[in-house]
Amino acid sequence: MSFQDLGNTCVFGLQWGDEGKGKIVDLLLKEDFDVVVRYAGGANAGHTIVVGSEKYALHQLPSGILRPNVTCLITGGVVIDPAVLLGEIASLRQRGCQIDDNLRISDRAHLVFPYHRREDALADGAARVGEKLGTTGRGIGPCYADKYARHWAIRVGDLYPAQRFKERLATIVAHKNVYLASVFEARETFDAERLAEEYLAFAAELRPFVCNTTTLLYRLMAQGRQVLFEGAQGSLLDIDHGTYPFVTSSSSGSGGVVSGAGVPATKINSAVGVLKAYTTRVGAGPLPTELKDDRGDAIRKRGGEYGTTTGRPRRCGWFDAVATSYAAMFGGPTCLALLHLDTLSGFEELSVCVSYRTGGARLDEFPADVHLLDEVEPVYETVPGWTEDIRHCRRFNELPPPAQDYVRLISERLGLPVRMIGVGPARDQIILIED
Ligand code: GDP
Ligand code: IMO
Ligand code: MG
Repeated sequence: MSFQDLGNTCVFGLQWGDEGKGKIVDLLLKEDFDVVVRYAGGANAGHTIVVGSEKYALHQLPSGILRPNVTCLITGGVVIDPAVLLGEIASLRQRGCQIDDNLRISDRAHLVFPYHRREDALADGAARVGEKLGTTGRGIGPCYADKYARHWAIRVGDLYPAQRFKERLATIVAHKNVYLASVFEARETFDAERLAEEYLAFAAELRPFVCNTTTLLYRLMAQGRQVLFEGAQGSLLDIDHGTYPFVTSSSSGSGGVVSGAGVPATKINSAVGVLKAYTTRVGAGPLPTELKDDRGDAIRKRGGEYGTTTGRPRRCGWFDAVATSYAAMFGGPTCLALLHLDTLSGFEELSVCVSYRTGGARLDEFPADVHLLDEVEPVYETVPGWTEDIRHCRRFNELPPPAQDYVRLISERLGLPVRMIGVGPARDQIILIED
């Protein structure tokens, strides 16, 4: 089936991340798209692609890197940890993947430094002041904070020329050492010269990939190339619209494309909202439908729900139609990709949260107040499950009738067509539905 009709498309998560975005991006790049763009987040992302018996987990690189003839762009909205990025490039090359002219990195992307990772660990650890967020520890929050504060930030383009970079880094490191010692009583300090040497070596390796990705993207679109925007994290982790403060520090919903990639909103034709057939979340924060019992354990075990980046067990629960409808409202998907339907095989009954109650009254909106969200009581619609293994199904009508009904229920609740259904992690374990 062709997805040519989608035009320039954003693929983004409608939950709290790990919905299976990597798999959908990889699928769409098979035939219909030949440019893929990461527009937000950083090495906190972990996108898995399973190719035969090989498993790839991508943190910094767009998922298109495994497809020959696909141009991969990392644009200015992304924060780049060069050690992670170059490590990923080296390891993929060792596995036979070609990475040269097919990768371009924005000179406007901000760089993550070891002091960002240290601050992330300290600010979210025992010495913190305030909430423990359970971050990935990749330095994401501190790097974006520096970006917006402006005084202490370094972008990819600032690595060149070397002398200017060294001087700027020396000033920043002096500040960071004082800051970390005074706020968190950190004893270790960073050595500006050693850090400059390390980053200048990265700078030389990165050089061939660096360009103005905004102009490049404009040119590629003008040539009629169909572009896929690969979201990281999920809409409910979005800095503005998610369950703040239990969110990430970027615009991880579809809204991040415009500012992060530098494309006008009018150039984006479609958006695929990726969902799991249930809910997962890693780290702290409200999760109204969380199952802290055998059923949650069963989903975790069957679905292999352990973080791709940190290995942490993911919290699991029933599908939440209130939270995902809210995400669909501000994210505007034109269709849905519903993954992990196979993981639900074997439940006698399945529940879908259709509204929240608080203090005996129905709550009509997804609240901004996380304390309220922590306390809401989910109201469920319970439907029959199915026992059959569905991993071999490739057509909608091959699914057991209760599985078909479950997909219809989610589609109706969100008011959107489901065009893809995941029935396993492998590339071919997908059911495609004609529009
Ligand atoms: P992403 O961050 O959104 O790309 O998702 P992750 O890669 O972090 O997590 C999704 C996990 O589910 C990965 O291990 C995938 O290989 C796996 N996966 C994706 N789709 C399906 C599916 O339909 N069924 C099953 N069982 N696994 C899937
Ligand atoms: P992908 O792209 C799931 C979560 C962290 C934590 C919160 C803040 O694989 O879907 P951060 O390190 O960003 O400051 O952590 O956000 N988080 C993710 N959860 N998938 C992700 O990415 C995530 N990226 C960040 O667990 O709760
Ligand atoms: Mg992930």
